[in-house]
Amino acid sequence: MNILFLDQSGKLGGAELSLLDVAATFRHHCLVGLFADGNFRSALEDRQIPVQILTQQAVKVSKETGLISGLTSLGTLLPLVVKTANLAKQYDLIYANTQKAFVVGAIATFLSRRPLVYHLRDILSPEHFSQTNLRVVVTLANHCAALVIANSQATRDAFVQAGGRADLVQVIYNGFDADRYAQLAQLGRDRAEPWKQEIGLENHFVVGHFSRLSPWKGQHILIEAIAHCPKEIAAVLVGDALFGETEYVQQLHHQVEQLGLHDRVKFLGFQSEIPQLMASCDLVAHTSTAPEPFGRVIIEAMLCGTPIVAAAAGGAMELVNPETTGWLTSPGDEIALAHVIQTAYKSPTVMESLAKAALETAKQQFSLEEVIEKIDQSLKSLLST
Ligand code: UDP
Ligand code: GLC
Repeated sequence: MNILFLDQSGKLGGAELSLLDVAATFRHHCLVGLFADGNFRSALEDRQIPVQILTQQAVKVSKETGLISGLTSLGTLLPLVVKTANLAKQYDLIYANTQKAFVVGAIATFLSRRPLVYHLRDILSPEHFSQTNLRVVVTLANHCAALVIANSQATRDAFVQAGGRADLVQVIYNGFDADRYAQLAQLGRDRAEPWKQEIGLENHFVVGHFSRLSPWKGQHILIEAIAHCPKEIAAVLVGDALFGETEYVQQLHHQVEQLGLHDRVKFLGFQSEIPQLMASCDLVAHTSTAPEPFGRVIIEAMLCGTPIVAAAAGGAMELVNPETTGWLTSPGDEIALAHVIQTAYKSPTVMESLAKAALETAKQQFSLEEVIEKIDQSLKSLLST
């Protein structure tokens, strides 16, 4: 089975990190076509996964795109579509990993007569996308996709709610290599104290936030929560603005200054050693203010043995069993978050038992091997029909 994977991004977001693991399995029979260059390409090359940058021009279809600008940008997509369709003829199927990749793939599937799989990693709701965007994606999916893989039940439900065909969708969660996380996490635990010292947070209870800086990821909620906690509690924000959210980054820095928290809130930028850092933290917070489609960081924290508090919406609710494998708080509720952080700070034994249960659950339910097996089976049965 030869697969042409498509992804619009050159940057390493959650969708791309997930695709890295899937494409690695098919490395001898696939090509990953990207619509932009960046560290995603190097990450693919490091794992000997064939990769090609399919266009030098930025593909402009934003999440908020309106009808006119959407159609205009479709015009600029033409050379990319033709190139993709020609390439697709050398493969058995097209596998689109992101929304713009799916739009290109949907046209290429007609031209190349190769089936199209859409790995849907977004919650298709008005909170995340414009009406035009939703209509275009759902219509294309209903008519052009042979299979839609949803990264959670919440993602699947939103797709169906938006008018998507239920019979097309299969829910497959993201998978993780638990042994790798365990090994790297041990390194992080061993150097937790020196690390805290390095970043000026020695003797602090450190809450880690691991996500691109973007308004809906809700870093501002964690900052606000820290302001409601005693001074022994601090936060690190790991991640960068991947999609031009510079205004939000400025707002976050301003908020930290205004609240007088520069000694207790540290911005660490994009980091690649996530398991080590998670394990060096005392608690991981996920604070998305809109429903999270899946939330890799939640399972990663569990696999690192660090307790998690997550925002109760979307896929996150399928990942955390409240008070058993972690805590859930209402999205946007900084007071509730501050309360949970303080509970965690005061209750090391509760933290320990939550982390232990979470590790077991994550190992059992989110195994990379099983996820790859499911994807492989679904693709094979698609090609055999
Ligand atoms: N991540 C990373 N470096 C950072 C911040 C985050 O590698 O500095 C990773 C994180 O470990 C996770 C992914 O980025 O695997 C984010 O995925 P998630 O599903 O949580 O959210 P997304 O950004 O895809 O919406
Ligand atoms: C998207 C979603 C995120 C999910 C990731 C991997 O980036 O925003 O919630 O975990 O895809 O499927």
